Amino acid sequence: VKDAGIAGRVVRWQAGHGRSTLPWQNTRDPYRVWLSEIMLQQTQVRTVLGYYDRFLERFPDVASLAAASLDDVLALWSGLGYYSRARNLHNCARAVMEQHGGRFPASAAQLQQLPGIGRSTAAAIAAFCWDERAAILDGNVKRVLARVLAFGEDLAQPSAERALWQRATELLPQQPAEMPAYTQGMMDLGATVCLARNPSCLICPLETVCGARRSQDPEAFPVKSRK
Ligand code: ADE
Repeated sequence: VKDAGIAGRVVRWQAGHGRSTLPWQNTRDPYRVWLSEIMLQQTQVRTVLGYYDRFLERFPDVASLAAASLDDVLALWSGLGYYSRARNLHNCARAVMEQHGGRFPASAAQLQQLPGIGRSTAAAIAAFCWDERAAILDGNVKRVLARVLAFGEDLAQPSAERALWQRATELLPQQPAEMPAYTQGMMDLGATVCLARNPSCLICPLETVCGARRSQDPEAFPVKSRK
């Protein structure tokens, strides 16, 4: 697949311009990475920061979390919202203890079988912790990819969503060692440059290869649902 060096551009940009000081970066402990990804699913980084540190202080590993009562977990989650995440978190910790001997399974496919871990979250954990070549596709990354590729299909259609997963997988770095920087870079681009409104195309590492930029109207992608 001709990809105009997209992966390399993202990896190099991440090293120089991406975020690098968040507390869940620079660790390959799947427990810490998993916890951060679950908290970040529906909550802003700024809000997660305080909760993340407090949570880890109280529950430093998957065994301590699994041994806790649900009430204690919910109390620490209080204020983060979307409490099904906290219930799944607790169930997931127990499943890791009971089904995997206390160690997170080291592949995206196995992680995705656990409570609360969807395809994109499983891929993020596997990429960050084990360099697995698995694609993430959360809301921000959908926007980045839909723009770079000038992806013209309506992502509310399952066939379009499947097609974008396929393209996301084709664009991954060939080198597994680049997966952490690439994955973080895609997240960082979506959060800091390729914004939903008024994207900062002039500082984007993908500007020269971006289909939406070429079209003069980056905000036209992803295309709006017909519904
Ligand atoms: N949102 C989801 N995962 C993230 C991460 N690893 N860093 C920053 N924001 C995120």
